[in-house]
Amino acid sequence: MKRFAIVLAAGQGTRMKSKLYKVMHPVLGKPMVDYVVDAARDAGMDEVITVTGMGAELVEEHLGAKCQFVFQREQLGTAHATQQAESIIGDLEGTTVVLAGDTPLIQADTLKKLIQYHENNQAKATILTAIAPDPTNYGRIVRAADNSVLKIVEEKDASSAEKQIKEINTGTYCFDNRLLFEKLQQVGNDNAQGEYYLPDVIEILQSEDELIAAYTLKDFDEALGVNNRVALSQANQLMRDRINKAHMENGVSFVDPANAYVEATVEIGPDTTIEPGVSLKGDTKIGANVFIGAGTEIIDSQIEDDAEIKQSVIEKSTVGPKVTVGPFAHLRPQSHLLEGAHVGNFVEIKNATLGKFSKAGHHSYVGDAEVGEHVNIGSGVIFCNYDGVNKHRSHIGDYTFIGSNSNIVAPVNVEAEAYIAAGSTIYQDVPSKALAIARARQVNKEGYATKLPNLNHD
Ligand code: UD1
Ligand code: CA
Repeated sequence: MKRFAIVLAAGQGTRMKSKLYKVMHPVLGKPMVDYVVDAARDAGMDEVITVTGMGAELVEEHLGAKCQFVFQREQLGTAHATQQAESIIGDLEGTTVVLAGDTPLIQADTLKKLIQYHENNQAKATILTAIAPDPTNYGRIVRAADNSVLKIVEEKDASSAEKQIKEINTGTYCFDNRLLFEKLQQVGNDNAQGEYYLPDVIEILQSEDELIAAYTLKDFDEALGVNNRVALSQANQLMRDRINKAHMENGVSFVDPANAYVEATVEIGPDTTIEPGVSLKGDTKIGANVFIGAGTEIIDSQIEDDAEIKQSVIEKSTVGPKVTVGPFAHLRPQSHLLEGAHVGNFVEIKNATLGKFSKAGHHSYVGDAEVGEHVNIGSGVIFCNYDGVNKHRSHIGDYTFIGSNSNIVAPVNVEAEAYIAAGSTIYQDVPSKALAIARARQVNKEGYATKLPNLNHD
């Protein structure tokens, strides 16, 4: 038996009040429709077809080769959207799961169980339902006295008695594929919204005595449909809990899991501790036994084992094993800190490598530089990498010592084991083992201070 999935993602999402199409709104960094397509793929479908319309270009570019696409020119309703897949699978034998692109919490495992249930019962349609604490705005499942499903009624078409029903349509269904496309042709739009409703297929099948089943979710959360920003925040919260729980099960400690935001793409090794207010985003990999202190944001970066990061921002960079960063450091793109390096308070690194065990402890800017091993960068050292037109690189050899408040005017080459005196402005190369002093000599004028007007001892 072939299995197909149709993901409905053509709507604008008016209730989001956004320029961004609804299904592209991210939940923990990943667009909603992405989760739905991934769940369908992970459930082992032979074909996944996404129906696009509003923002089709953006959605298709984003999903890329993950699925096929059909285009719904006008958004006439969920039945009309489903119909667009007819050209690809309409006459094939098989089971079809229809999903809404705005239900990001749906899981592959649930889809597998739904299909199993549908096929075991030899039903023609199976609705994934849930018991909602607040069913407002969902379609309600209307059952007969014998508990069989009669129809689904939308909020706007429901009688006050029907509005009391707590069992809702999750927007995910399983159909006999051929029958689905046959019955879609009979769906009309004589309803409160003037739309062609996919749920009407259920009533049509029921009236023809076909077997309709319902598979009820244990946990309503998975059914959450995101139509507005309030639901979007709930989806973020639920996804955050799901992601953090999975990491905890894999040996990661969260001091306060309700206050740590780890995107779905992030990997974290065991024995790593994550403090409150941390955001880990994009293509980020964190090793084992890493400490990530409160308020840290890490984007598209790799942090290796035993590193310690405190209150810092790290973007598109790599942090080697046993490196310590922060508090209050900023690693801008292409910063590479090798094993045991240290970057401390109010230090900014950009497009620079800091070799093994090298240190920049306080108030420095290291930009466009190759810094060797065991280098000491004193407090307030600035790499002057920009001449107003171009950026230039500097090279600092192993075991050099750069005294506090020095300026390294790029391009400059400081060779291994050189020593730069504090307050120097280095604009010429320094040979290996040399001492460079590039500052005015100090002059002491004996007794002169007593003549100064502001030296006032009564
Ligand atoms: C829909 C269901 C409702 C269910 C709820 C679950 C219908 C008529 N109602 O309501 O029973 O409880 O989902 O979340 O189906 N779409 C298209 N083309 C269209 C219209 C919609 O692709 O012409 C897509 C939307 O982009 C969205 C999905 O279908 O991803 C669902 O549409 P939406 O308008 O959100 O339906 P609901 O009112 O939430
Ligand atoms: Ca919806």
